[in-house]
Amino acid sequence: MSDLKKILSPSILSADFKKLGEELETIDKAGAEYVHVDVMDGLFVKSISFGMPVIKSARSATDKVFDVHLMIEEPIRYIEDFVKAGADIITVHVEACKDVVATLEKIKECGVKAAITLNPPTPVSAIEPYLDKVDMVLVMSVNPGFGGQKFIPESLDKVKEIRSLLDAKGLDTDIEIDGGVNAGNLASVLEAGANVIVAGSAIFSGDVADNVKKFKEIMGA
Ligand code: DX5
Ligand code: ZN
Repeated sequence: MSDLKKILSPSILSADFKKLGEELETIDKAGAEYVHVDVMDGLFVKSISFGMPVIKSARSATDKVFDVHLMIEEPIRYIEDFVKAGADIITVHVEACKDVVATLEKIKECGVKAAITLNPPTPVSAIEPYLDKVDMVLVMSVNPGFGGQKFIPESLDKVKEIRSLLDAKGLDTDIEIDGGVNAGNLASVLEAGANVIVAGSAIFSGDVADNVKKFKEIMGA
């Protein structure tokens, strides 16, 4: 198994937006490395979340890596805007892009890291051609659209499959997992080969700092 750095990326979708600055400060101080930013357009997924203005003002509250997950149709149209707003990593859905390679190239041209993701029903073969073109692969462990859903256990097999494909290609690429991750299933997710952990409702409920610390403890950091 690879010894990639384990990273926690709390999803602000479940944060309290009336005090977003404070929430960011809390996860930052408690030791989370990334901030997961879920952008939804009401087309690719049912719900609508937030866009550039929110990211731009959140950017001034923390220096942490902004891990921006675009759940939008034809994301290539907005890459520059999200980079200008403060994205450090941009993840696009293979199902949402007409030209995946051009979209990934656009992200890299803008000077940030590129990642690809796939919905639970989409087979790994759909992203295999792009594995050598991305800095990270995101495995969706819920159907995207909302926080607080139940983890789909078959996602663990997908993580394992992708990790062995990456190993076979000699690629030490990050695998992120997103959806329904909590302190109870975190160990199995790490064991399967994911090293970047997204969690929304499990972090932003109750004592946020404590939740981050619990996650970090299980992650051995
Ligand atoms: C789902 C989003 C997730 C979500 C995770 O569409 O991509 O990032 O916020 O939330 P939890 O951890 O509550 O499933
Ligand atoms: Zn997400």
